[in-house]
Amino acid sequence: MDKLVINGGKPLSGKVKISGAKNAVLPIMASALLAEGKTTINNVPNLRDTRTFIDLLTILGAECTFDNSILTIDASEITSLEAPYDLVKTMRASFYVMGPLLARFGETKVSLPGGCAWGPRPVDYHLKGFERLGAKIDLNQGYILAKSNQLTGGNISFEIASVGATANILMAAVLAKGQTLITNAAIEPHIVQLCEVLIDMGADIDGVGTNKLTINGVQKLHPVEVTVIPDMIEAGTFLMAGATLGDIQLQSVDPEHLTIVLEKLQLAGCDISLETDSILIKRNDRIKPVDITTDVHPGFPTDLQAQWIALMSIADGTSVVTESIYLDRFSHVPELIRLGANISLENNVAIIRGQKELIGAQVMSTDIRASASLVIAALMAKGRTDISRVYHIDRGYEQIEEKFKLLGADIHREKE
Ligand code: UD1
Repeated sequence: MDKLVINGGKPLSGKVKISGAKNAVLPIMASALLAEGKTTINNVPNLRDTRTFIDLLTILGAECTFDNSILTIDASEITSLEAPYDLVKTMRASFYVMGPLLARFGETKVSLPGGCAWGPRPVDYHLKGFERLGAKIDLNQGYILAKSNQLTGGNISFEIASVGATANILMAAVLAKGQTLITNAAIEPHIVQLCEVLIDMGADIDGVGTNKLTINGVQKLHPVEVTVIPDMIEAGTFLMAGATLGDIQLQSVDPEHLTIVLEKLQLAGCDISLETDSILIKRNDRIKPVDITTDVHPGFPTDLQAQWIALMSIADGTSVVTESIYLDRFSHVPELIRLGANISLENNVAIIRGQKELIGAQVMSTDIRASASLVIAALMAKGRTDISRVYHIDRGYEQIEEKFKLLGADIHREKE
């Protein structure tokens, strides 16, 4: 296992190129299963999660090549309809193959994802949605078996605008017979891009970018070429590091995806300038405390909550962070406390009393975004921090230490 070693307190300056979005590319990779022939995906981040998804598609019989951010998937010959436990347990997004396999082949067997580091992450909306489309769902020995000779359109309404369930149901409904209406659909940028890709493939979807999606099923889809949108979570992570340390320019980014994050950073006193596809953030020595509540898009993303807490831990006063999507998602808090942060937790609310400085220590990664918050805190802290179990960060961040090193950080990777 690898660890990251960071000597904190170094200013950051220069330009950083943001990679393609992990949360966008994984459903797009699943959508390639809907069509015979070769899909080409550009701007694919080289992450552990993308490589795991390639392994999964290969097990299913697809032919994949991945070189220089370009991924091709030829799903002409699918030889297995089963997503095995060993892969699904390492990456919940494997569950995305369920919709496309069910829609194109009439059946699939997908391991039920277990819990995760921040508590239960149910898939009941996905399963109820497939049932609404006429599928028969059974659970057997930890696997979901879904069957339907011909999916038929139906009305589906989510209690919470779930990103995962919206994507999975969309990928099934595009090949169902008749009309499907999804109300309270997610509107995250990665869902908008998935809709656009499906439409390019020949799907008939109305209401893209709104909470109400109308899908008229078609008989067949064809493969397309697509370029993945920039990763707004990676961008947000660099912005939060830049807030106290940098004058850094993020390139290949879409500021519109980050409206609320930029607003909150400005409230915290950061000097930010925007261009169409770049964001410049200048260092601010004393960050003001700013409260946030995570919410579905366009609210503050749960995937940036941990990084915000890291930034607030050196703010000039007390701030309150409320997690409303995943109520237990606070595994980073005890680790940030090891670095000198003053944080107390009450249910899904973190109260952060800003400190003058953080001090380096040994800490442990627990999940992708928690690890990113530790990197930010370690870059801000005085002295050396060792972050163990960095395989978590490699799931979702492409070359994080190289990118920070190019900006002037003292960071390297070592074997543990
Ligand atoms: C979440 C993020 C998404 C991000 C992804 C990867 C939100 C709303 N979603 O998506 O932006 O890309 O993590 O880190 O911020 N729920 C159920 N039953 C279900 C599905 C969801 O009860 O079948 C609930 C969840 O417990 C949660 C909420 O709905 O409280 C939203 O979940 P969902 O958007 O599906 O989460 P992810 O797909 O994991």
